[in-house]
Amino acid sequence: MAAKYGFYYKKDGRDDRLFLDQTPVKQIIERLSSPPTPFSLYSFNQFRHNINSYQRALNDLEPIRARLSYSMKANYNPHLLPILKSSKVMLTTVSGGEMQLALSNGFEPSTIIYNGNGKTDDSIEMAINAGVLLNVDSLFDLEIILQYAHQLKKIANVLIRVNPILSDSNVHEYNVTASQTSKFGTNIDELEPIYKLIENEHDKWIRLFGFHCHLGSTISNTQVIVECIEKMVKLFDNKRFPHLRILNIGGGLNIDYKRYANRTATNQDEKYPSIPTIEDYVHAIKEPLKSLPNTIELIVEPGRSLIANSCILITRVLGQKQTGSIRQLVVDASMTECIRPALYQAYHHIDTVNSSTTDERIPYDVVGPVCESGDFLGKQRCLPKTLKRGDFLAIFDIGAYSSSMSSNYNMRPRPAEYTLDEQEQIKVLRRRETNEDLLRTYCVE
Ligand code: LLP
Repeated sequence: MAAKYGFYYKKDGRDDRLFLDQTPVKQIIERLSSPPTPFSLYSFNQFRHNINSYQRALNDLEPIRARLSYSMKANYNPHLLPILKSSKVMLTTVSGGEMQLALSNGFEPSTIIYNGNGKTDDSIEMAINAGVLLNVDSLFDLEIILQYAHQLKKIANVLIRVNPILSDSNVHEYNVTASQTSKFGTNIDELEPIYKLIENEHDKWIRLFGFHCHLGSTISNTQVIVECIEKMVKLFDNKRFPHLRILNIGGGLNIDYKRYANRTATNQDEKYPSIPTIEDYVHAIKEPLKSLPNTIELIVEPGRSLIANSCILITRVLGQKQTGSIRQLVVDASMTECIRPALYQAYHHIDTVNSSTTDERIPYDVVGPVCESGDFLGKQRCLPKTLKRGDFLAIFDIGAYSSSMSSNYNMRPRPAEYTLDEQEQIKVLRRRETNEDLLRTYCVE
C-alpha cells in the first residue's frame, strides 16, 4: 500500500507523480502560481512519524527510561518546535542562539542540553542562569563553567562529553567526531583531571549527572554504537559522584538517502546495502544497555534521522548542455541551499516531479548556477532526456543540514519554505529573502 505521509511516487496511468502526503506536488506548484524557485516543502506528518518511531522503539527499552532529544542544529526552523514540545522531546543545542530559541519557545530548562567544544561567556551564563544541562567538553570549559557558577551563585548541572575513541570508517572524514585526535570532548582515558576539579566543588557549585558522547554522523554500522555503549557504561562504576544517572549516546544514525526502500520492482534485483531503520538502531542498543543499573536514564539525540526525509527542495531546470563527455543539467538550486554534495560528496536523490515511465533517461551532472566548480547537486543522475528550461525537479531528504547550513554566497536569497496545513492548504513557514534582507546589516552611509 502506498504511504499516506511524506514524499512518495504514485503511478497514474503512464505517469509517476510525486506526492506530499495526500497532495500531488505538481498541484502545489500550480497553486503557488509561478513560485520563485528553489523553494522547499515540508511534510510535518513525516516528521511526526519519525518522532513516534523513535519514541515507540525507545519505550521498548524498559526498564531503562529513554528520552529523545532533537539535535536542533540539523534544522532550527521554529515551526518544528511546537511539534517537538507536544511530543515531550528534549532539545540539544550548540549555541546561545539555539538555546535562546528553545527557552523562548517554552522548553523547560531541564529538557535542554547545551553542548559545544567552545562556549562563549554569554551562553555559559545563560545556561547556568536558566538551569540548562551543560556538557563539559574539556578542562578549560569546566574552569569557565565553574567561574560562572561562582559568580552567579548557582549550581551548574553538567554531563561530561567523553570521546570513546571509536569511529565508523565509512563516514566522510568531516562527519567523524570520535577519532583519537577529535576536537570534541575529552578522551575516555584522560578524564581524571576533570573528575578531580568537579569533585572539589561537587554539590557546591557543580553537579555531575552523567556522560555524553557522539560518534559522528551518517553512521550505518550499528555495531560501533554497541561498542561505544559497552565502553560508556563502565563510567557509571564511579562511586565518587552520587548523582550519576544520565547516559547520552548522541545521534548519528544515517538515513536511506539513496531511497533504496522506494525502488520499483524493475530494479529490485540489484544489491542494495541495508541502512538501519530507527527500529533497527534502537533494537541494536538494547543488549549493551542491559549492564546499566535501572536508575540510569538514556538520552538519544538524533537530528538527521528525525528531520531529513521530511523536506524536499523544488528547483527549475535552466537548461542543458554538453561539455566534453558530460551532459550538464543546469538547475536554479545550488550549494547555497544544499551544500552537502559539495562539502561531503554526499548523495541526495534527484528526480522529476511528474514524469512518464516511458521517458528515455540519460545520465547528467546536475549542477547549480553558483560561480564555483564545486557547486553540484548530483553526478551522473539518470533523468529524462527531454528535460528543458522551466521543468521542475525535486531534490530529496534536505530537511537536515541544508536550510541550517545555507548561505547567501553569490548574493543568493535563502528560499521560501512551505508546508500544507490540515486542510491541505499551503502554509508559508518562511518567506523568500529579498535583496534588501541581504544588505540590511551593512552599515552604508
Ligand atoms: N549530538 C551531537 C553532539 C552532534 O554533534 C550531532 C551532530 C548530533 C547529536 C546529531 O547528529 P545526527 O543524528 O544529525 O547525525 N553537517 C553534517 C552533519 C554534522 C553533524 C554534526 N553533529 C552533514 O550534513 O552530514
